[in-house]
Amino acid sequence: MNPQDVRKLTEQVIRHFYDFYRYTDSAHRIDHIRSVISNVIRICYTNGWQEHLKLAIIAAGAHDIFSTKELRAEHHIKGFTWVLDNKPLLMRKYKLTSDECYTIAYAVMEHRGSFKGNYNSIVSEIVAAADRGIPSKDDVTNYISRSYLYARDNLEKSISNAKFHAVAHIQDKFGRNAYAKVPDWYHDMFARELAERRDIIDMLDIDFFTPDLVEDLERKLNNNP
Ligand SMILES: [Fe+2]
Ligand SMILES: [Fe+2]
Repeated sequence: MNPQDVRKLTEQVIRHFYDFYRYTDSAHRIDHIRSVISNVIRICYTNGWQEHLKLAIIAAGAHDIFSTKELRAEHHIKGFTWVLDNKPLLMRKYKLTSDECYTIAYAVMEHRGSFKGNYNSIVSEIVAAADRGIPSKDDVTNYISRSYLYARDNLEKSISNAKFHAVAHIQDKFGRNAYAKVPDWYHDMFARELAERRDIIDMLDIDFFTPDLVEDLERKLNNNP
């Protein structure tokens, strides 16, 4: 795919799934999808995996469509089923084979950090890695903000408990003893960035939440589109 086709497909996918992401929780809105797609593109180009771009972009578009408050725990399974139920539509719209739809469905199912087992294909690996994000010390703010929003919105925690929740969650997920599963190559591809980020995350505490940051996050919470 040339860059122009990649851009076109990205916009088509965003349009296609846009409405789903008006109902997802605050941490999984369309801006999350844009960033996962942009990570997919970067990962594919860096590794010379352009042939997987098409399926990975479509899977990234679909991966969190059911991440609503009510369905969060099973959103990956719901998404898997949705892709298979909509196979004829997807085949027509994106000129896919039936097998390619299965590859997309599995990538949706296997994107979560809690996934156990072997990935169905490299497309699943790319989407899982892109969802975890390109590690950078700068996006600690982004992670911790999303976790705070999740605690406030989904878990209905108080402001102060949401801060503790976010710090603990980020340290669990990305700190020294991180539990979340990513493809093996992820650690090699981003070794330096991961080490830098880990150092920052290990030192995090609730003072990270400045009054300005909290105010900004609370505004997002009350401003669901
Ligand atoms: Fe998800
Ligand atoms: Fe996601």
